[in-house]
Amino acid sequence: MVSVKLRDMVKLYGDYLAIKGVDLDIEDGTFCVFVGPSGCGKSTLLRMIAGLETISHGSLTIGDRVVNDVPSRDRGIAMVFQSYALYPHMSVRDNLGFGLKISGASNEEIARRCDAAADMLGLGPYMERRPSQLSGGQRQRVAIGRAMVREPDVFLFDEPLSNLDAKLRNQTRVEIKRLQQQLAATVIFVTHDQVEAMTLADKIVVLRDGLVEQTGTPLDVFERPRNKFVAGFIGAPSMNFIDGTIVRGPGGVAVRAGNVDIPINAEHFDLPAEGEAITIGLRPEDIVPEGHGQAPEMGADTEGQVGFAEMLGNESLLFLTVAGTELVARMQRPRIVETGETIRLRLDGSRVHLFDAKTEESVRKQ
Ligand SMILES: Nc1ncnc2c1ncn2[C@@H]1O[C@H](COP(=O)(O)OP(=O)(O)O)[C@@H](O)[C@H]1O
Ligand SMILES: [Mg+2]
Repeated sequence: MVSVKLRDMVKLYGDYLAIKGVDLDIEDGTFCVFVGPSGCGKSTLLRMIAGLETISHGSLTIGDRVVNDVPSRDRGIAMVFQSYALYPHMSVRDNLGFGLKISGASNEEIARRCDAAADMLGLGPYMERRPSQLSGGQRQRVAIGRAMVREPDVFLFDEPLSNLDAKLRNQTRVEIKRLQQQLAATVIFVTHDQVEAMTLADKIVVLRDGLVEQTGTPLDVFERPRNKFVAGFIGAPSMNFIDGTIVRGPGGVAVRAGNVDIPINAEHFDLPAEGEAITIGLRPEDIVPEGHGQAPEMGADTEGQVGFAEMLGNESLLFLTVAGTELVARMQRPRIVETGETIRLRLDGSRVHLFDAKTEESVRKQ
């Protein structure tokens, strides 16, 4: 396997700037996930790496070669799409081996690689079936197998799980991760689903409007989002945002949200002056209903009115009004909650995120 380097990669469709200058290093054996909202340029960037779109500007290195002008088939990549794109009139075995046959591999070699892929993917029993005789999950496994038999240096996936139902999606997600680990493969995987991104990635690349907003490990982007966009995009349900101000008192520094002062560790932030506006970010799990979960040590007590409770069994999501602001809280070991009920809450000051009210950049010291 090999590494992939992007330098100032730009894509122009006519005069529309779809990719605005992306720098990225994907190390050998990394599972890298491009994530971002629909239309942000994930597929375009992947297709530029695959050689299915020209590169308007910048350079792309795969292994030790700049491949800007290398045709797709000579880049050592294999791509799996959302639609399986299998040949309907061919058996699974022939679908797996077709690319190898075209490239002139021997029958023994084709059989060896197809059997190995079928083994790893559990496709053995289906080798003589046509795609129409397979479930969606099985078809997607054939598509993955077809990429595997090419023994590429880099696997590229464009939303391969989007057509599967929830259960199969989870199952196939685990399989893809396991395969990547077994093969120690370099993988670039596109999704708009932040849960997929978090669970699969060694390295997450968050894209917006053709630009990289942040790269890092899943924990990095979750714990230290660089701006309000990343903070709101990663994590489900989304982070709550509250307009606040800075207050400095004898007890230390706090952020004021409505009538609540939440104490914070000021040394972690580059804070604006007292009284200045700041955007407070609090994740649902950091708003802890009294008696549910561990009460945060450093925090502020308040209460909220329940507008709606979404019961998930192991937890409930409470949609609350706290001092005039709508917030979502996570309730562990839930009980039945009535609409209109008043719930006592503790807001975790040690988990507060703070963003510049104008630029939306995090004010956390890096
Ligand atoms: N062939 C094309 N011609 C013109 N614009 C395109 C083309 N392909 C994609 N785009 C535009 O580029 C932007 C990024 O698209 P895409 O990479 O498909 O986004 P994503 O995969 O993140 O949903 C979108 O605004 C899209 O409309
Ligand atoms: Mg796409």
